[in-house]
Amino acid sequence: MFVCLIYLSVIKVQAAGKPVSQDSIRPGQVWPDSDGNHIQAHGGGIIKIKRTYYWYGEQRGKGLDPKFRYVSCYSSKDLTNWKFMGNVVKMLPPDTLSDKWVLERPKVFYNAGTKKYVMYFHLDDRGYKIAQVGVATCDKPDGEYKYVKRFRPLGHESRDIGQFIDDDGTAYLVFEDRPFGFRIARLSKDYMDVEKEMTLVKAHMEGGAIVHYQGLYYSIGSALTGWNANPNKYSTAPTLEGPWTAFKDIAPVLTNTYGSQSTMLIKVVGTKKTTVIFMGDIWKPKTQYDSRYLWMPLEIGDGKLWLPEPKPWKLNIKTGETSFSKN
Ligand code: GAL
Repeated sequence: MFVCLIYLSVIKVQAAGKPVSQDSIRPGQVWPDSDGNHIQAHGGGIIKIKRTYYWYGEQRGKGLDPKFRYVSCYSSKDLTNWKFMGNVVKMLPPDTLSDKWVLERPKVFYNAGTKKYVMYFHLDDRGYKIAQVGVATCDKPDGEYKYVKRFRPLGHESRDIGQFIDDDGTAYLVFEDRPFGFRIARLSKDYMDVEKEMTLVKAHMEGGAIVHYQGLYYSIGSALTGWNANPNKYSTAPTLEGPWTAFKDIAPVLTNTYGSQSTMLIKVVGTKKTTVIFMGDIWKPKTQYDSRYLWMPLEIGDGKLWLPEPKPWKLNIKTGETSFSKN
């Protein structure tokens, strides 16, 4: 049976170019988009516009022009089947940066006031000394984003970034400030700036992800071990300002978060159930184009959070219910 499953997923990859429809989310496996190509949206973030989800991430596919850095965009109505909308960023090093620069963890926010899509990303040199965010904007979710500027949010170092949009629509950037911990800061009205610090969580963590669930804020972060997986942890707080509890494991320590690293938490509010999905990356540093995803519905509530052992599962986007699937 096991051999058979592996064989089937290989067939799917080979079928690149042919339409592929998914009935399940399969953590750790190749995840074909609707054209049959493995999704390239690493370190990503997701926004929902009306009924459509957009997933942005690092495009690390094979055969890209190494002069550029790329951000991909995929769209979906069910969070399971994704259509590649194109590379929305194809960028040369901005202003004085050398060509050995890094663009990671893109996150897009939609500003209803200006009707602009505002992308933040981690901008750095290969030694990760610059520690800034870059900002690019576009008039549509999947158009060509134009670079605007780069800066250190509120003057602080910023490496891994995460995005959080609260239930009232307020947009926040989560960023790792190496000397101190990680910060959660509110964006300005037009989202073009990072305006107000809500909290500094004094824990040396990155891959910061937040969800507001049943009146409590949950944050997940990973330890600073580069591409290598580590035991991700969570903390809770009644408000974004804190106080944040001590960090606890989200999965059995020895599994190193089942080989993944957090990038975002997605809340699906259905007619019957609210499901929170852990969205993680399984990095393959030597073959980044083959990096995988670990998405699983979390067991969450009453201040507790747990990542169940990954296995294929289905999401009913209308009701919010999930079930495990046979393959
Ligand atoms: C990780 C980080 C990734 C990338 C990598 C580079 O810690 O989460 O986004 O920056 O380091 O080594």
